[in-house]
Order: sequence, then C-alpha cells, then structure tokens
Amino acid sequence: MNGPSSTKAWTALQDQSKKFQSSKFRLTRLFDADSSRFDKFSAQHGELLLDYSKNYLDDETKSLLLDLAEQCSVPQAIRSMFAGEAINTTENRPAHHVALRNSSLSSQQAEIENNLNRMASFISKVENGELSGFENSSIKQVINLGIGGSDLGPAMVTTALDGFDHTRIKIHFVSNIDPSHINSTLMGLSAEETLFIISSKSFTTLETQQNALRAKQWLLESGVDSESVSNHFIAISNNIQAVVNFGVRAENIFPLWDWVGGRYSLWSAIGLPIALSIGMGNFRELLAGAKSMDEHFLESEMTENLPVLLALLTVWYTAFFNCHSSVVAPYSQRLKLLPSYLQQLYMESLGKFVDKQGNLTQTNTGEALWGTTGSNGQHSYFQLLHQGKENIPVDFIAIAKPHVNDFINQEQLKQHQHLLSNCFSQSLALMNGNDGDGDQHRWLVGNKPSNTILMNTLNPHSLGSLIALYEHKVYVQSVIWNINAFDQWGVELGKNLSKELFTAFSSAADVDKQDLDSSTSNLIKHSMDWNE
Ligand code: F6P
Repeated sequence: MNGPSSTKAWTALQDQSKKFQSSKFRLTRLFDADSSRFDKFSAQHGELLLDYSKNYLDDETKSLLLDLAEQCSVPQAIRSMFAGEAINTTENRPAHHVALRNSSLSSQQAEIENNLNRMASFISKVENGELSGFENSSIKQVINLGIGGSDLGPAMVTTALDGFDHTRIKIHFVSNIDPSHINSTLMGLSAEETLFIISSKSFTTLETQQNALRAKQWLLESGVDSESVSNHFIAISNNIQAVVNFGVRAENIFPLWDWVGGRYSLWSAIGLPIALSIGMGNFRELLAGAKSMDEHFLESEMTENLPVLLALLTVWYTAFFNCHSSVVAPYSQRLKLLPSYLQQLYMESLGKFVDKQGNLTQTNTGEALWGTTGSNGQHSYFQLLHQGKENIPVDFIAIAKPHVNDFINQEQLKQHQHLLSNCFSQSLALMNGNDGDGDQHRWLVGNKPSNTILMNTLNPHSLGSLIALYEHKVYVQSVIWNINAFDQWGVELGKNLSKELFTAFSSAADVDKQDLDSSTSNLIKHSMDWNE
C-alpha cells in the first residue's frame, strides 16, 4: 500500500471537501433538509450511542469515506489484528490485546486464564489478610509505581469506577520522577500496611526504577527489616530477571507478554490496581465490555462500525479541513483522567511521519488530542473552540444515567440534567453559531463539527466498551495512514539524552566535558548554582 492519497476514494474526497468548505455551507441546513439525519448518522452498540450527525457529512461523503477504508484494506487489517498477526511491524510482533479480553483468540489461552486466576487469588489474599506486611500487619494501602501505559489506564479506570466495590484498600498512583510525587503520597502512611506494585513492562523505565528504589528506602527507614521488605512488593513485567534482581519474590511476579503494548495493557495484570479497587468480578465485566466492542469491530458492517466511523471522520478532517488537533470532553468528573489516557493512546500510536515501508507519509497523520472534563472546559478553553481561528473537532462524552452513588435524590438528578444540557448545548452552539446581533465581537461563525458519545451509564462493562472503541479507532487511523500504531521510537532519544545529561550534574567541569550547546549547558549550570 502506498498511502491513502494514491487511492481513488482520496481524490474523490478531496473534491467532495470543497462543498463543505464553501462559504455558503451550513451544517444546520443539512438538518433542515433531512429530518432523518440523526437516524442516518448515528449508530449504537450496547450501552454506547454514537451521534455523528453534526459533521461535514452527507450520504455521498460517507460512502466515499467507506470506500477509502476498503481501498486501504481496513477489513483485512482488522482480521489480522484478531488473528494475532505481527501487525507491529517494526518490532515484528503481534499487538494482540484483544486476546486479553477473549483468551480463545490466543495460543497462550491457558496462560492468560491462569494469570487472571492468579490475580483473583492475590486479591482475595490481600482482602482477607493472608498477604500481610511487616509484623503481620494487614495491607491497607496499595501504591502503583508505573508511568505511561503502566499508570494512565489503571489510574483512569480506578478513578472512573470508584465506589463499584467497597474495598477497604486505598489505591494510590505514583508516576512522576519528581520526588514530590512519591513523597506526598507516602506522607502519613504506615509502612507495614503499605504494598507497592511495580508496574513496568520493560523494568528499565527510569521514573519507575527511581520510585521503586525510593519506596524500598522508605520501608527500611520506617523500620521494616531487610528480610521483610520483599513482602511489600509485587511486580508486573516482561523482564522477569530484572524484577528478581530488584528483590521481588517469584510468587509475587505477574508476567506481561511482549505482544501487549504498554498503552494497551490495562486489560492484563497491569490492571491489578483496578481489580483490587473494584473486585475481580467487576474487572471481568470491564474485559467483557471491551470484548463486546471487539466483536462489534470485527463483525459489524463498516457503515455502522463505531470505531471505523470515528476514525474516518478524523482522517477526513485532518486531510481536507486543515484540522491539527481534536478535543475530547467527557461530561463526567469520573472520567476526568480519560483525556490524559487518550493522549498517550493517540499520540504515541499516531505521532509518526514515516510509513510502514519507511517512506515519508504523503498525508497528515496523528493530530494533537487534548481536553478536560465538561462543564469545567466551558470556563477555560471552549472560548477558542467557539471563536478561535482553528477548526477543532470535538468528541463529547455524556452519561445518561448517573452513578447510583451520585444520584441521591431528585435534586441531584436535576443537577445531572444540568450537566447533560450543558453538554448538548455546547455541540449545538458549535454547530449553530450566531450573528452576534451585528456586533463582530459577539459573532460565532458556527459550523464546527462534533461527535457525541452518549453512554447509558458508567459501569465496568460500558467503560470497557468505550476504551476499546478508542483503541480500535486509533488502529483504523493507523491502517489508513499506513503507519505502525504500536511502536514509539520517538521517545527513545530524550530518554538516552537524559541519562547522559544526568552525569553532567556532578560539576561545572562535567558540564563542559559534554560539549553541549550554550542553552543546555547554562540551564544545567544555573540549576546547580541555585542548589548551592
Ligand atoms: O516511554 C514510553 C513508554 O515506553 C510507554 O510506551 C510505556 O507505556 C511507558 O514508557 C512505560 O514503560 P514500562 O511499562 O516499560 O515501564
């Protein structure tokens, strides 16, 4: 494949785009002209309803976008993913996270199931006090030490599903190498009641290594004797030898297979903090929700395939409408970490300028993704969405039924309805705009595209589906753009340079030895001076 721009559909779409770029075009007229527009341009799977009617789309355009997917071999690529083929081409291995939700897809079915059973038995041991800390203290605090995919997914899901199981264990997440992250987390905790989970696929990530060493030091400083320190650690990794060298006992190590990418790993033992927090039954529900989206992705027609539709719209906007970023705005405080989670999923997967064959891509690829919760975002960045010069498509995410803990009485239900009306009114305002009654400063051009994903309710099953929806959307974009969604070579240079620069922090002479540019060397020297 030579990239999407060599397809017939691409040329036709380029032509099509002109009608939506015309100054006469109004999104609202598409609704005026067709009372069934919502029915035509919405699709539902299980608890998720995707309304994509507020987009630059008509029947002809949709059909051309679907042609593009065909001409870029999206259906074959989907089958390859589920078959466990080596779709991670630069690392020559599968990206088979779907097997974590349906182990029968994998030749390692027994190991996947065994791992889930080990997770379950670990959780009950922690819960019933069989797994205890120094001097038989029961574990009351669990701290996950990990970063990127070994942090964002577990932290996001644990936050979203808070209250689904009433565990007595408090879960914390420490990711940043900034010592204040671990220090502030440890403050006031009792060492003998604290268990650390070291989550690191590679077990070489500097941030996690440093935090794990600090955790060990803290346990010793707090009086845990050196023989008992290992009772306070478990680890999840693909690098078993390094974990053993760190001092974690073999029975406390959960393996992570190399075919599970970091940002696709919350379904594996990396999800242990989630399972500890919501219980194993609910964790299996999360997997079941994702599996249900997987089946939809694999089996449903492209014309109603949610991940395919979402991906095609993003391709459409980045290719022909000069869109350089998109926003995700969950109208749910429980989903406050979703934008950060999706940032890694999107930008590590799609931030590539070289195609699978090693050539420079001829089209735009991954756009920047950003956002925060609504309604908070309305009082910060939405001004730019309404009146800025950039055209930034938005994914609104709303939840129809509030969580039972949040629906205390009729008044609370009304507050939830305020939340929903805020969400729906923003997509309306973005589309409609207004003429500002002749005042240029109050003029909103409108015509801004958005999707709304309306979830029935937020529970482990629906959240599993939502996450899998975005995972697959990203994959489809990568297939159309002909890039590998499963590597992240771009982050390596910075990691290596940081190790080199670290050695310069010993003395001014060491800084000079590195023959650095004057900006970098002076920044180091000033930092050192200010530490004296
Ligand atoms: O640096 C990027 C990255 O490799 C991510 O892809 C990954 O999720 C994160 O670092 C953490 O990696 P690990 O789980 O190996 O510590």
